[in-house]
This record gives sequence, C-alpha cells and structure tokens, in this order.
Amino acid sequence: MAFDPEQLRAEFPILNTRLGGKALHYLDNAASAQIPVAVIDAVMRHETAARANVSRGVHSLAERATEAYEAARSIIARYLNAALPDEVVFTGGTTGAINLVAQGSASQLKPGDEIVISELEHHSNIVPWHMLRERIGVALRALPVTDEGRVDLAALDRTVTKRTRMIALAHVSNVTGAVLDVAPVVAAARASGAQVLLDGAQAVPHGPVDVRALGVDFYAFSGHKMFAPNGIGVLWGKREALARLAPAFGGGGMIREVALDQISYADPPRRFEAGTPPIAQAVGLGEAARWVAALEREAVAAHELRLTGRMLDGLADIRGVRVVGPQGLQARRGVVSFTLDGVHPHDLCQFVDDRFAVALRGGHHCAQPLMRRFGLAGTSRASLAPYNTDADVDALLQGVAEARRVLV
Ligand code: ALA
Repeated sequence: MAFDPEQLRAEFPILNTRLGGKALHYLDNAASAQIPVAVIDAVMRHETAARANVSRGVHSLAERATEAYEAARSIIARYLNAALPDEVVFTGGTTGAINLVAQGSASQLKPGDEIVISELEHHSNIVPWHMLRERIGVALRALPVTDEGRVDLAALDRTVTKRTRMIALAHVSNVTGAVLDVAPVVAAARASGAQVLLDGAQAVPHGPVDVRALGVDFYAFSGHKMFAPNGIGVLWGKREALARLAPAFGGGGMIREVALDQISYADPPRRFEAGTPPIAQAVGLGEAARWVAALEREAVAAHELRLTGRMLDGLADIRGVRVVGPQGLQARRGVVSFTLDGVHPHDLCQFVDDRFAVALRGGHHCAQPLMRRFGLAGTSRASLAPYNTDADVDALLQGVAEARRVLV
C-alpha cells in the first residue's frame, strides 16, 4: 500500500489529542517521537505473557523472556546491518551508550591523547568526554561549524592528529538537521589510528542504518526517538572495538566468575549490561525497528523533505525569522531551528502551544557550544516524523506569523 501519512496517524492514538479544543500538531519528534499501537501492543503482549527476568532463570517464563529480549537484539542487529547480534548492547539511551564508550575507554587513554568532537554536538556527546578530560587529562578538540550549521570537514586535517584516539560526532544534528558526510571522517580516523563513534539519535528514526557501510566503530541511539518506549537505547560496536572496552558498570549478569579476591567479566554484549536490563523496553524497541523498516522508506523521505521545504519556505516569508541550519534540502533532515527577532524561544513555543496546539522545543537543545557559535541563547525547533502533515506545518507557520504580530 502506498505511504499515506493520514493513514499512519491512525496508528498513533495520541495524535488525536485535543488541547484546549484544538487538534494537536506534534512537531517535537527530535525530542521524543510518538509510539504506534503495534509497539504498545508488543510491550503489552510481553508484559502479559512473558514477563520474567532474563539470562538467569530456568523456568519457562524466564526462557520466554530471554528469547524475546535476544530476538529484539537480533532485530536491531539487522536494522543496523551489524555483523552479529552480539555487537548490539542495550543501554538506557544514547547518553548511556556514549558514556559506556567514554568510561570503558578510560584505561586505554593517557594525558595528552585527543578526542575530537564538533561544535554542534549534543551535550551527551560532549560531557562524557569532558569527564575524561578532567579525570585523565585527555585533550578535547572540536571541529568548527560552518555558517550553514554543518560540521566543517575542511578542518579535519588540522584537527585530527596522530594523538587522536576517538572522533565522536552526530550523524544528524539535533539542532540544524544537517547530515554528516561520514566517509571523510572515517578516512581521517583511519589515517591517524583513531576510532569513530557516531551519535545516531537523530538518524535511526528515519530508517535502517548500515553501520558496516559507514565504516565506523561505534554507533549510539535512543529508542524513544524512534517510536519505542523510554529507557532503552543501543550501543552498537564492532566486535573487536567492544572487546577492548572495560565495563563501566558492575553488577549481576555481566560476569564470568566472581570471587572475593578476583573477578572475570562476561564477553560483550553482556559485559555492558549489568543488572536487570529494560526487557519490555527492548522488546518494544525491536518492534519499533520492525515498524520503521516496514515503512516505504523512499516515500517517507520524500514526504518529510517536502514538508521540510514547506517549512523553510514558509518561515522565510515571515519577517524577523532566521533559520539556523541549512537553508536548502540537500543533506538535511526535517529538524528546523529558527529564531524570531525580539521573541525569546520559550515565549514563542508557549505562544504557539497555547494558541495553536503546536508542540515545538525551545532553548539551547543541549547544544550550548553551538548556540555560542551562533551568538544565541536558544532557538525554537520543529522536527518531523512520518505522521506529520501539511496541516502541522501550516499550523506552525500560522503560529509563528501570529506570534510576530502579537509579541514583537
Ligand atoms: N536530544 C533531544 C533533543 O534534541 C532531547 O530534543
């Protein structure tokens, strides 16, 4: 069946919400996307037919739970084109995944080693590396950002050195929507002996990603941005890259043997999954990945691109609006940040929420260095999912135009 956003909406009961008598226009998908009935049902089925702890019990329900949990791992491995399911580590989210790599790499790093990030990273891909800087004395170097809101890859040569151990970048910016050109980054890393980690939080919701074709070492993402429950995310790592990481958390389930005077750890991925994992959430994430993979990818991409264009054109027509990010549709996703002269982003977001039931995010988007780069305290941000329609974009444009009339 041809892709039809209106039909898709029927799978998301929350999209029928009315706020103050107005239809909801949900444009905060980059913060958290909504969850389809198929995923809610999968979680419900699991909780009502297979709830037990995993990888521990020998009773039937525990086996069922373990099978469901491992099946989810296999689905995610396929979604990422990973070589093995065991390259998929379940975490609490992107933040947990990046911290796992940073903390797990600590013992391999020494003062003066360098970590390369960029000026547009989300704090979840800055702070874990800062913590290593404070703890070990590694140096943080940042690729600058162009006026268009892209990582300036022309600076790779002077930023990546023989001392670089890790290049950690967003696959898609959560502020500007710019898509990273990964190949030159991987080439620079290989030339210097560094590893590459991609923060894929804003990339995976738009369809399967081929980590092997990308040629990176680690890939991190969150479930709640890709139509899955909260509290679940993924760290994918090449088998040999995961094998080099020390565990960041200790507890049950991640050991081979424990004595009072010595310990040995399980192999990945279990080495990194201390304690009872988020089992139903993992099952939900597997179902969400299946759900996204079943969408007609090209039609969805074309739909989102068309809506992005409609948003960019409409915003360009409102006096005082400035888009922070690529003005065109090339190598960008439907994440559109903008400012309105004379209006604080929080005020704008509250105004369009109150008057038009349009849900945006406003503020620094956990990307303060990027805000500083553009001399801004924050932006308002609209972000798309496949279920968004022209009506959502038009409500946004009407809201911003009205905010200008009333607030400026
Ligand atoms: N990282 C999420 C965002 O950009 C929360 O909104």
